[in-house]
Amino acid sequence: MPELAYVNGQFMSLAQATVPVEDRGFQFADSVYEVLRTYGGQPFALDEHLARLRRSLAAIALDYPTDNLRGIIAEAVRRAAFPEAVIYLQITRGVAPRHRAIPAQVRPTLVLTVRALVPHPEWQEHGIRVITVPDNRWGRCDIKSVGLLANVLAHQAARNAGAHDAIFVEADGTVNESTAGNVFIVRAGQLLTPPKSHRILAGITRDKFLAITPVTETRITAADLLGADEVFLTATTVEVVPVVMVNGKPIGSGTPGPVTRRSLELFHKNFRPAGPSRG
Ligand SMILES: Cc1ncc(COP(=O)(O)O)c(C=O)c1O
Repeated sequence: MPELAYVNGQFMSLAQATVPVEDRGFQFADSVYEVLRTYGGQPFALDEHLARLRRSLAAIALDYPTDNLRGIIAEAVRRAAFPEAVIYLQITRGVAPRHRAIPAQVRPTLVLTVRALVPHPEWQEHGIRVITVPDNRWGRCDIKSVGLLANVLAHQAARNAGAHDAIFVEADGTVNESTAGNVFIVRAGQLLTPPKSHRILAGITRDKFLAITPVTETRITAADLLGADEVFLTATTVEVVPVVMVNGKPIGSGTPGPVTRRSLELFHKNFRPAGPSRG
């Protein structure tokens, strides 16, 4: 089966999947989402992703029973039959005449897609370049909202500058996160990451990593970032990605450092099933 979608109870090919124009997810980004990956064909950290989804739903007062999702995800992964898959799951408020007020009677829309995971071993091997950009996002980045325009524009600004991604920095110099991942730095052998707040998404990869290695959760400034011995990002599909250059300045030796390499190995050792790498 090629790339697959599930929309409100129906499986179909991704190319066939549509939502109505008056879906509030389309019109207002009145919608939250999750992205999961599989290891060995099994969704990774499913409980944690569903728990975060429930937190996002509660934060936007969207009443949606999530009990059915486990079965739908399992069936979607089974039908798609990719060696390793990325599962995108989005719940919108539903379809209603366009008005800001949240409609009283509306059926939420569930959209799920399954695509093949495209690994990027070259990023893990050689690292990526990032730029810093002003954090002009809204004040609830802890909600996994589909309102990602600021992230899209920041990511594109990075691409236009010849970099891979952008890291959001507050006006006072506080480093928050990248457009799609959490930030870690290494300073004098110590791992540091910004604490959870409304300014960052609490990454599942971040949580999983914190459970297996000592990390200090503390404010990081742009100066700390630029002066760090090592920098890396964490996110579901890319796991641990070394950052070797920030704003054109090499980090450490300009190549992935030993703590970052060990962190990726540790992550794999704990969470990736043994056997041939499938991304
Ligand atoms: C803004 C942002 N921060 C952090 C993350 C990392 O989250 P996770 O580890 O759950 O993939 C993501 C993932 O997409 C993200 O979009």
